[in-house]
Amino acid sequence: MNASLPPAAASPAPSGLDEDAVRRLVHLFYERVHKDAVLGPIFSSRIKDEAWPVHLAKMCDFWSSVLLKSGRYEGRPLPPHLALGSDAGDAQFARWLALFRPTALEVLPPDAAQAAIAHAERMAHSFRLAIGFHNGEDITRATPFR
Ligand code: HEM
Repeated sequence: MNASLPPAAASPAPSGLDEDAVRRLVHLFYERVHKDAVLGPIFSSRIKDEAWPVHLAKMCDFWSSVLLKSGRYEGRPLPPHLALGSDAGDAQFARWLALFRPTALEVLPPDAAQAAIAHAERMAHSFRLAIGFHNGEDITRATPFR
């Protein structure tokens, strides 16, 4: 062990990545979700107009925790997705990611965009497996989203 090593420090966020960038990511992404023919109706049937500010604030907390390690999100993300039933199949997750990837690349610095996309792909896959398992589907051949 090298006693002269400095204590490990948390790696700093890439420049250009801050709470404001997280807010822009979340707001632009859900603006696109809202207009989307596949996802728009799924979200608007579950989140009433007056509840959107609460959802957006929660999603800012979530992405701030993921990207800036702020620890602001303390929720349990799986249960609301289990409740989506057939509205959360492969096609819907693929569409969600198809909207999220370009939005992240547009709004975030490149390293942060890649980290956000990789995180979203991992969560989509694990939600998909959990939902499939919950619904009694054969999930043995489910492949990761990339
Ligand atoms: C098929 C794709 C998806 C659909 C249709 C969907 C839909 C929804 C809906 C309707 C809600 C609000 C639930 C409520 O407040 O009652 C929600 C919440 C949430 N979603 Fe998704 N989602 C999808 C994919 C994802 C992915 C890939 C992620 C992660 C990157 C994600 C992260 C979250 C989180 C963190 C919440 C907040 C959960 C909480 O603490 O209440 N979602 N989603």
